[in-house]
Amino acid sequence: MCGIFGITLDSETNLGALLRRALERLEYRGYDSAGIAVVAPSGVLVKKDAGKVAEVAQRLGFDHVKGATGIAHTRWATHGRPTQTNAHPHVDCTETIAVVHNGIIENYEELKSELIAKGHKFRSETDTEIFAHLMEEYERMGLSPWEAFKRALSRIRGAYALAVVDSKEPDKVFFARNLSPLIVGVGDRFNLVASDVPTVLDHTNRVIPLRDGEYGFITSRVIHVEYDGVPVRVEERVQTIPWSADQAMRGGYPHFMLKEIHEQPEAIASTIAGLEPRRLAEIAEMLLSAHKIYVVGAGTSYYAGLVFQLGLVSYKLAAVPIIASEYGTYEGLFDKGDTAIAISQSGETIDTIRAVRALRERGVRVVAVTNVVSSTLARESDLVLYTRAGPEIGVAATKTFTTQVTLLSALHMAIGRALGVDVSPQEAALKRLPEVARKTLELNEGTAKEVAEKMAANQSAYYLSRGVGMPVALEGALKMKEIAYIHAEAYPAGESKHGPIALVENKFPVVFVFSDPSLKEKLLNNVAEMAARDATIIGVIPRGDDVAKKLKYAFEAPHLDPMLNAATFVIPLQLLAYYTAIKLGRDPDKPRNLAKTVTVE
Ligand code: F6R
Repeated sequence: MCGIFGITLDSETNLGALLRRALERLEYRGYDSAGIAVVAPSGVLVKKDAGKVAEVAQRLGFDHVKGATGIAHTRWATHGRPTQTNAHPHVDCTETIAVVHNGIIENYEELKSELIAKGHKFRSETDTEIFAHLMEEYERMGLSPWEAFKRALSRIRGAYALAVVDSKEPDKVFFARNLSPLIVGVGDRFNLVASDVPTVLDHTNRVIPLRDGEYGFITSRVIHVEYDGVPVRVEERVQTIPWSADQAMRGGYPHFMLKEIHEQPEAIASTIAGLEPRRLAEIAEMLLSAHKIYVVGAGTSYYAGLVFQLGLVSYKLAAVPIIASEYGTYEGLFDKGDTAIAISQSGETIDTIRAVRALRERGVRVVAVTNVVSSTLARESDLVLYTRAGPEIGVAATKTFTTQVTLLSALHMAIGRALGVDVSPQEAALKRLPEVARKTLELNEGTAKEVAEKMAANQSAYYLSRGVGMPVALEGALKMKEIAYIHAEAYPAGESKHGPIALVENKFPVVFVFSDPSLKEKLLNNVAEMAARDATIIGVIPRGDDVAKKLKYAFEAPHLDPMLNAATFVIPLQLLAYYTAIKLGRDPDKPRNLAKTVTVE
């Protein structure tokens, strides 16, 4: 949550405008306040306020600020309400040091008391401000800014990505990373740091992802990184990112979410093209020889994991699905000989990272499924499988789910092959998946707009299914909740009679997911129960199926196989959530209270 950026160039430029553009990129990470600090001859010039980037930048005239070195921040409040004083950057008493931070400094209260006792005056309620004063304190004791930065770092505990400027060394941006993502962008006569890759791509496609515990400084020509007092040779870690800056932008769509929904056929095709059969076979063997299997993830990634877990049942394999933040409850099970599949689009979700650490501490082998090369998850796992969804900027995950299901279906097939099962029908279906996703988009956009008109008039909805359709229902309901703010609840259809049906009355929307034809008859019984209570019945059904007759509204997707259908049957539900949010005047790219990557527990 929160996005940070810092850049240093070899000559003065329209730095305020450059920082504003970086903030616009980062805004999906947090959007309740925004601010910049630019090194000026007499100290640091700070402009910040509560509000969205565009309005704050306009009101405070970011674009008129010139300079060569600066930092910027977009905030998602953790400590302290979204106000002008709590917005970053934060400065020390002398206003010569400015700090931006993503994360939480856990021991800030004790440090704050210590600094107040030494006469420091605090302006905000944030944990971050202590860092500026800590540096100031060490500089008062005679340390250089760099030494003071390092000393201040040694005092803080918690999660952080930090960028700091100090007008006493005007050409440097100091930085540090622990648990919150931070990337160095390698430029020609400039260098920068940023929370994510798309923000770097505006300036350079050469990046160095920093590792936990690393810190250092950049000038326009130098990148200096240390770990535990020892310089790190980062030149060897420079990677060239194949995404273009354009890919990371909206490309003509009104919202990133809609663009990303439409990118799914391509994202699925890239994920299939990137499959490594040998690696899949190796992981299939690991799973087959495992004592226990776990499937771990958060939110959408967890639901994609459920598709896999349910798919394993057909091979008589039992896996324990674990919501990442709940890993502690299951720790007693973790043992040598077990294998876990840990799924995270960003590879930075702290709950998933913590679960992976706990698993590995107990000797469990971890296979990561992630979209981000060199993410923390990728680095900390034994083996990695990459989805190739490209950057996902919209806060609501879309490409995430479809590419994860694609990849996990391929792994499922590899297990089948290892067991001597004929998986050629599934392999053929997998090849058709990108085209089927394209067709599903084409078939349903109009219906989604029409159903959204009705959905928007409701405060609640049910999403019901059975079997491998359940994760699709869960994901559909999650999308509706997070961007349209409609209370949408997913239930196994049979379970709805055990309580939830009490809410159903005239026009209550109930969405059924018919992705597994073998469960059609049973689901139709549940449709009848809901219809008897005058619910509005909406269904996602195989194309051409006569189930359509029983429904008020039908979304259709060409049938492939129950597991792969999860990747396409979800698409109409993404569109439905998107158009419902639009109808209600919500901004689907910036849902309230949410952040794209959750880096706090
Ligand atoms: C839902 C959503 C979240 C994420 C979850 C995990 O639309 O975006 O539920 O799926 O925070 O994120 P990753 O996959 O990055 O670990």
